[in-house]
Amino acid sequence: MNGVIDLINKVQDAFSTVGAYDSLNLPQIITVGSQSSGKSSVLENIVQRDFLPRGSGIVTRRPLVLQLITLSNNAPDYAEFLHVPQRKFYDFDQVRMEIEQDTSRVAGSHKGISRQPIHLKIYSKNVLNLTLIDLPGLTQVPMGDQPADIAKQIKQLVLDYISKPNSIILAVTPANTDLANSDSLKLARQVDPSGKRTIGVVTKLDLMDTGTHALDILTGRLFPLKLGFVGVVNRSQQDILTRKPMAEALKSEEAFFQRHPAYKTVAKQCGTAYLSKQLNNILIAHIKEKLPDLRSKLSTLIGQTQHELAQYGDSTFTGKVHSGSLILKLLTLYSSEFLASIDGTSAEIST
Ligand code: GDP
Ligand code: NA
Ligand code: MG
Repeated sequence: MNGVIDLINKVQDAFSTVGAYDSLNLPQIITVGSQSSGKSSVLENIVQRDFLPRGSGIVTRRPLVLQLITLSNNAPDYAEFLHVPQRKFYDFDQVRMEIEQDTSRVAGSHKGISRQPIHLKIYSKNVLNLTLIDLPGLTQVPMGDQPADIAKQIKQLVLDYISKPNSIILAVTPANTDLANSDSLKLARQVDPSGKRTIGVVTKLDLMDTGTHALDILTGRLFPLKLGFVGVVNRSQQDILTRKPMAEALKSEEAFFQRHPAYKTVAKQCGTAYLSKQLNNILIAHIKEKLPDLRSKLSTLIGQTQHELAQYGDSTFTGKVHSGSLILKLLTLYSSEFLASIDGTSAEIST
């Protein structure tokens, strides 16, 4: 089952290497939310690592394509960037610095945004096989030297990603704001009116006024979503300042839901661990639904590449690397295995 996702990730890599990342339109999970809604915190919790730049302004200024890969052994976690080939990052403070540096390199050192994504892989035994995309936070007003239309630019960037029918939207909304005015849910509804590929994540449940709770939201009574809402409690700013370890935060989160009078009966459907499981299930169901389409697209692409290659002849392989030949080389490594896997396992992917 995870083999299918592994293969899809490999094929995805093959395409991104030649700048054709979107060719297959593979299913991806995209986080959307207003600034400081807790997007980075949610992502870090899923990964169980501190690695994302954070701050009060527009910190995420480029899309971050984050591919999580499960390590089956006890080797230490590490990260790799597509733009830094052959270097394994074991220090996740260095990962954060590299994200910051490459953001500045491409999007400038001020507050501009760029559509050019950063590709990052994280290998860990603590993650499920998922590809997540972090986008700049939705904002209302320009800050500093930002262009007047920054809000529109970011909204358009987000829309471009979540419009793809093949994407799964992780719509992040803080519990201590008016859910009816949630920017992420509004945008998600624009592109996914029936709510069949949007999962709601409600953050900051611990910051709600005493005596209030979000049970109506979490159970879908207030805002129906086919894939439902998951409530989470991320680390507070104070927890971040005191460097509260991830594992400890996860335990506190679990305890919060188990002890809370309103949530204890639904505690099993709350929290970061449940969110991770839900995401993997949703992704697999999604892939299963898309298998016939993926299969024919891949076949067409291979056919096109072979045709293109025939026109160039064998010299393509010995001379300068042509993007078509590179795709073919990479695909021949994976495609037969990939297609066989799709044919062979489509019936058995059920969990
Ligand atoms: P982003 O801008 O959407 O990426 O939001 P961040 O993840 O950077 O979080 C913004 C601020 O909110 C940080 O100070 C976090 O510590 C805090 N925060 C995020 N989620 C929670 C939560 O569930 N509870 C509490 N108490 N604070 C949170
Ligand atoms: Na922030
Ligand atoms: Mg952020």
